[in-house]
Amino acid sequence: MKEILELISEEMRQAFEKAGYPAEYGKVNVSNRPDLCELQCNGAMALAKQFKKAPIMIANEIVAALEGSKVFSKAEAVMPGFLNLDLSPEYLASYLSGMAGSEKYGLETPEKVKKIVVDYGGPNVAKPLHVGHLRSAVIGESVKRIAKYMGHDVTGDIHMGDWGLQMGLIITELKERKPELPYFDASFTGEYPAEAPFTISELEEIYPTASGKSKEDEAYKAKALEATKLLQDGERGYRALWDHIIRVSVTDLKKNYTNLNVEFDLWNGESSVHDIIPGMVQYMKDGGYIRESDGALVVDVKEETDTKEMPPCMILKSDGAALYNTTDLATLMQRRDEIDPDQVIYVVDKRQGLYFEQVFRCARKTKIVKDDTELFFLGFGTVNGKDGHAFKTREGGVMRLESLVSQINEQMLKKITENHEVDEAEARETAKIVALAAIKYGDLSNQASKDYIFDIDRFTSFEGDTGPYILYTMVRIKSILNKYVAAGGDADAAALRVPTGKDEKELMLCISRFNAMMKGAYEDIAPHKVCAYIYEMANAFNHFYHGTKILTEEDETKKAGYIALLKLTLGILEDCIDVLGFEAPERM
Ligand code: ARG
Repeated sequence: MKEILELISEEMRQAFEKAGYPAEYGKVNVSNRPDLCELQCNGAMALAKQFKKAPIMIANEIVAALEGSKVFSKAEAVMPGFLNLDLSPEYLASYLSGMAGSEKYGLETPEKVKKIVVDYGGPNVAKPLHVGHLRSAVIGESVKRIAKYMGHDVTGDIHMGDWGLQMGLIITELKERKPELPYFDASFTGEYPAEAPFTISELEEIYPTASGKSKEDEAYKAKALEATKLLQDGERGYRALWDHIIRVSVTDLKKNYTNLNVEFDLWNGESSVHDIIPGMVQYMKDGGYIRESDGALVVDVKEETDTKEMPPCMILKSDGAALYNTTDLATLMQRRDEIDPDQVIYVVDKRQGLYFEQVFRCARKTKIVKDDTELFFLGFGTVNGKDGHAFKTREGGVMRLESLVSQINEQMLKKITENHEVDEAEARETAKIVALAAIKYGDLSNQASKDYIFDIDRFTSFEGDTGPYILYTMVRIKSILNKYVAAGGDADAAALRVPTGKDEKELMLCISRFNAMMKGAYEDIAPHKVCAYIYEMANAFNHFYHGTKILTEEDETKKAGYIALLKLTLGILEDCIDVLGFEAPERM
């Protein structure tokens, strides 16, 4: 279905034309004075000069041309020349009936289906997920779902950090602790054990220990660098050990991401492109893009217009080892060959902005991406505590994602059980669902690039601009619908009616903007727009609910009309929270 504002504007353009004015001035917008009118058009103001007429005269002519319009119930020319408009309730109701009867509530399928890769998550294996990883996962998942909902062909890739120095550090530390393991015996030719020589918790302790040592001990760091290089060069024992690290780590990551309702289509990592790096380097050399600098290979990416520092992009270190950007560039090549995307979106901490600028420039310059492939960096801000500093544990350490999630779960459980008597198991299940909404909404309702304060008390509140408030509203609607059905009503047969009350019409107007909103959220890569919309919708619904007898309404067709409106409201809210990556419980 066409967007309602578009249809309204079309009506207005015809009126402009009929009155002898250029049609394109008939653009209608949502009113910024909702106390005066629902919609407005400022075209008459803009035309005054060109036609040497007072704008109010033009506006009056337009009003006359709108005589008999089925779209507007009010069209007023007001000084100095504005057009104040209200939408016809009949027109609005018929638009909503169209939405209710269409797939995805009338959202149009794209003219061209785009192939989009969303690179998000980006955990580093063997390191526990911390609160910084939350944003990439939560925002990336939503960006992916919005694009899918729009009808595009989207691939989510986790792009794990599984190939760099951290792997060398872990191997080095393991060797110090258990030198007798066959992985460290160069003469060993047998089969390596199937069982990993560590558990996930050991692994998570080994990495920080090794990292700490390497910062203090030069010799230790040299060993780790060498181990990294040996691993990358294919040393058999190191590869076998690395396989164990990946397997143990990925099992744990999958559990964590599943708890967050985050799903990746591809579980690739930096290591996945290892084999194509030599070919890429050769290609860059052949193309004359690469130069040597102190033994390392670099590509210059500085441009004349640069005002900021733009260091060259290093492709191989002097010891021949690949770097973070080498793998990112090779991954772009791999994606080109295997997926051929129209767009690649990176959801990464905004502090990596300069880095991605280098990578993108290098990829363009060396033509390892097609000219028409769009590379987009969606950099997100920091999660802060109430003190305004990066979110930490009470002891000042890095907050692990798991403990953060369980804190919110606990808080939610307390709230749910203190409200009323509920079965323990059900309460736990509900608390989990609501807690996830609290976390995700708390994050997604902010523009991604902004820092935000992780405020557990606010996020878990049932009132205000929060996830639980949205869910509470949905549960309220579900409960009314259930009661209607329990009393013998047929909710599926209920038909929308022309609105009679102001709150009812407000809610309908909000619903009518759904497709435009979703398109905007997609085009601007902005999940916060979906949040703002459902908050507005929840408010509009609650106003309507508080001022209307729904189930006690005596006029049955009127009651059925309310029920149809509730169903539509709920359906849209459900699709919206689904693209945000959370769901609503049956009760709470
Ligand atoms: N593992 C990286 C980090 O923790 C994030 C990866 C982001 N994605 C990418 N394609 N570089 O900083």
